[in-house]
Amino acid sequence: MRAVVYDRYGPPDVLRIEDVEPPIPKQDEILVTVHATTVNRTDCAIRGGEDFITRLGYSIVTTGNPFAALRRPTQRILGTELAGEVAAVGAAVSQFKVGDRVFGVNAGHFGAHAEYVCMRERAPLAQMPTNMTFEEAAAVCDGAILALGCLRRVGLRQGQKILIYGASGSIGTAGVQLAKLSFDAHVTAVCGTKNVALIQSLGADEVIDYTQEDFTKNGHLYDVIFDAVGKHSFRRCRSSLAQGGKYIPTDGWANVFWVAWTARIGDKRVVSDVPPHYRQQDIRFLKELIEAGKYRAVIDRCYPWEQVIEATTYVETQQKVGNVVLTVSQVSDTSGS
Ligand SMILES: NC(=O)c1ccc[n+]([C@@H]2O[C@H](COP(=O)([O-])OP(=O)(O)OC[C@H]3O[C@@H](n4cnc5c(N)ncnc54)[C@H](OP(=O)(O)O)[C@@H]3O)[C@@H](O)[C@H]2O)c1
Repeated sequence: MRAVVYDRYGPPDVLRIEDVEPPIPKQDEILVTVHATTVNRTDCAIRGGEDFITRLGYSIVTTGNPFAALRRPTQRILGTELAGEVAAVGAAVSQFKVGDRVFGVNAGHFGAHAEYVCMRERAPLAQMPTNMTFEEAAAVCDGAILALGCLRRVGLRQGQKILIYGASGSIGTAGVQLAKLSFDAHVTAVCGTKNVALIQSLGADEVIDYTQEDFTKNGHLYDVIFDAVGKHSFRRCRSSLAQGGKYIPTDGWANVFWVAWTARIGDKRVVSDVPPHYRQQDIRFLKELIEAGKYRAVIDRCYPWEQVIEATTYVETQQKVGNVVLTVSQVSDTSGS
């Protein structure tokens, strides 16, 4: 089969498409023909191998050995999100059959930037929503699961006021929709001028254009501030939190300190949902929301996978709106020849 591979940490042009051995499903695994996948910030962070902590975390998650991936990546194929069709099933698999259309996220395993990927039957994977294309379904899971984990972690309740900073990213566009339609919170979303109309269309009660207004200076208080793009800080927005309010970031190692510090001092907390939890029941939950018309994946650009370097370079501008999708070439058999 063909796959996007890389052998060393570096800029997007370390990626190339190559023929590799196709994976063979074990007893409890399914083999999926990948029709669409995404390039997300996780793919970029791992491929770039920018810092020691990222390499260490990647090494532990993928091999259990903290040193295995410090010098070079342990897996040649990136890609976490996917939508495709079941091509083969292991002997012990009961909930999927050949031909099923599925979507999910192979977090911690990667391998979705390929014509085929194997996933365990119990992996975060479900039947695809009936009302979506492969490209749309591929873009659902990562941002939504990360946002869902954060909203649960802060214990968001009906009617609470949440401010979502970085509302136009993958996690942000998911967070706005889930906070509104799934948690019934009062959502104030913060984004740049060009994305205001989009974020309004996703259901935000209020949208603040950060080029026009600094939310930390408008006197409003929030029960939760969700920094969905990792660009704000507890220090800067502490005074915008109501008594007992919580700040939850998606990025920034300094927050490890703030989580520990605010657990002891003061009544405003920094909480974290790292590492995130990817569960099959949550993928099924998203499928139900989508089929009920209560959730959609926001797609900025869709590239043929031969343009993976261009797609990756675009994601690394940190200006994508929602998600960037790769369409994987259709294949006619599972032999890998
Ligand atoms: N916890 C985890 O396991 C995990 C996993 C994946 C990603 N992450 C982290 O989560 C963060 C969000 O990822 P993502 O994929 O959702 O992001 P993303 O899609 O790349 O976010 C892009 C959006 O961020 C906004 N933005 C860029 N710079 C900004 C700034 N300085 N201030 C405010 N908004 C800014 C831009 O919108 P506007 O033009 O509207 O500002 C852009 O549309 C990243 O830091 C990523 O590293 C964490």
